Amino acid sequence: MIGTAHEGLRVSITGLGCRVPDRVVSNDELSQYVDTSDEWIVARTGIRERRIAAREEALSDLALPACHAALAQAGIDGKDIDLLIVATVTPDMAFPSTGAILADILGAADAAAYDLSAGCTGFMYALAQAYGMLAGGLSKRALVVGGDILSRILDWTDRSTLVLFGDGAGAVVLEVVPEQGFLGFELGADGGGGQNLWLPGSGSRVFDDPERYVKMNGREVFKFATRVLVQSAEQLLAVCNHSVADVDLYIPHQANVRIIDHATRKLGIPSERVVVNVDRYGNTSSGSIPLALADAAADGRLRPGQLVLMTGMGAGLTWGSALMRWTKEMAA
Ligand code: ACO
Repeated sequence: MIGTAHEGLRVSITGLGCRVPDRVVSNDELSQYVDTSDEWIVARTGIRERRIAAREEALSDLALPACHAALAQAGIDGKDIDLLIVATVTPDMAFPSTGAILADILGAADAAAYDLSAGCTGFMYALAQAYGMLAGGLSKRALVVGGDILSRILDWTDRSTLVLFGDGAGAVVLEVVPEQGFLGFELGADGGGGQNLWLPGSGSRVFDDPERYVKMNGREVFKFATRVLVQSAEQLLAVCNHSVADVDLYIPHQANVRIIDHATRKLGIPSERVVVNVDRYGNTSSGSIPLALADAAADGRLRPGQLVLMTGMGAGLTWGSALMRWTKEMAA
């Protein structure tokens, strides 16, 4: 799916918040659980540490402070929200949805609230959905949450997946605005590659293996990720009549520094325009892009007028890009 935001109302991000668990887990700590090393992890992934949720922490516990921060920045209350989408593969439970749980806590009594599953691309899919509902006049103010507690579904004896992921969540408020924020989206899915990154036994399909952990073909996912990051960005920029040279800030999904470097080189985006925080958080799945947005806001790189390109990719296999003109002054 590809399209520009020329029809309908103008929509932008007016609030942003994020939250990571307190516990920092270093590569050295992981080497106590599996046969790995700081040297291997840094060289192959760029990851130095990640945050891991406490046993009693569920996704809604991480997402709630992120929502509060996003609402405060937008200057609105939970009751003003009429749409709440949570992009995640690790909701508190299958049902009720984490969206419904959060809407209740936030007092968003009039909100449509639900969860959306598109792997690490979930946040991009949710942004596009919320954009569409606002641009079409169905929703007035939306809260889009992206977050995961992947540590809960990792095999803590499998070094090939354990070292890659971390926990975290972010939230953004979307509102109708006078000036153009979102400019276009490109989203896609290739279910044929689904078994390169999957969680067998997590739904209605019965598997003989009772274990329920993330399983991944790292090399295939690597090839897929480097390909779609470039393709999706190029296609979206072209349809929006922009070139790579126009991009002020590039926010790729934070899976692996090597994947990001590869895409950045191929696209020709200078490194100072690229946001990278995978070294501190690992791959936080749906939390990755909002956490990177928050970092760019904190270091002063996210400013009104800038052309921001975001691309996510992940399980499904799925991918998704959004291009927007940033409209909000981010308080330091
Ligand atoms: N520590 C030490 N050695 C390891 C580890 C580890 N944590 N994991 C694997 N190895 C070993 C392997 O067993 C292998 O040993 P062998 O040569 O004796 O068989 C060797 O290291 C090389 O393994 P490769 O899989 O070839 O290593 P590669 O350079 O491909 O890196 C990696 C692996 C980091 C997983 C890479 O393929 C990758 O990043 N893939 C993308 C995966 C990803 O990002 N998934 C995230 C979810 S999807 C998404 O967000 C896009």
